[in-house]
Amino acid sequence: MENKKNSPIGIFDSGIGGLSVLKAVRQLLPDEPIIYVGDQAHVPYGARSMAEIQKFSLGITNFLVEKKARLILVACNTASAASLKFLRSKFPWIPFVGMEPAVKPAVENTISRIVGVLATPATFQGALYASVIERFAKDVTILQDVCPGLVEQIEKGWLNTPETKNILRLALVPMMNKGIDTVVLGCTHYPFVIPLIQKIVGPEVHVIDPAPAVARQVGRLLSDPLQQANCKKSSGLGSTEYFTTASTRDFEALFPVLGISAGPVKKLNWLEARLIE
Ligand code: DGL
Repeated sequence: MENKKNSPIGIFDSGIGGLSVLKAVRQLLPDEPIIYVGDQAHVPYGARSMAEIQKFSLGITNFLVEKKARLILVACNTASAASLKFLRSKFPWIPFVGMEPAVKPAVENTISRIVGVLATPATFQGALYASVIERFAKDVTILQDVCPGLVEQIEKGWLNTPETKNILRLALVPMMNKGIDTVVLGCTHYPFVIPLIQKIVGPEVHVIDPAPAVARQVGRLLSDPLQQANCKKSSGLGSTEYFTTASTRDFEALFPVLGISAGPVKKLNWLEARLIE
């Protein structure tokens, strides 16, 4: 059997959104090597067909498997909605962790029993979201919004511009008028605008970022004896290698804006359905 020591955790998203989850994973697991892929050539995924998102997710997963990833974190609600089940069946030997809107903790937390969920159209259309609502949100009113254009703003690093604020106000003010006390961030790009969201909804409304819980799930799976890499003491020196399918320079420029530790950024090219370094 292959030696798993030093095999990386693979993380991917349509763009830079998954970096909000990478941040939480890195905090929890400072020693683990991580490979991150942002498919910025195709961002946003949210309005694309499930088949297309599945094709991209498969191409990225094949690349991460070639890189010997020993766990893959689909740090994208949209890609999880379209392909998590499919990827698990195609790569049964790899543990996958995916994202789903954190409706369960929201329902546990809400007092007004009115919860807002912000996510992409594909996430709302997927069976994963339908099952989350079915299981956890029976006696709660769920208000949804797809925040058109918000992912694009965040991809540019425009976290606090009038346009970004306007998109969020259009989504959140009607929800507040209906009495929400909890907002679920169902897209991994959105935690980067939490300060703006909190400013709009006020301190009383609870904003749920699922990243810490997802990072804990990654940690749990890696501490499974079968997945354990090595048991040396924490050095805090886990490497992070970033890949983008668009401009490496634009990606690098976002590190300070997003509060992410810088690392080498390499370019990947799509060749039909394959990713080539
Ligand atoms: N970060 C994404 C998500 O969690 C995808 C956004 C998009 O590409 O539309 O859904």
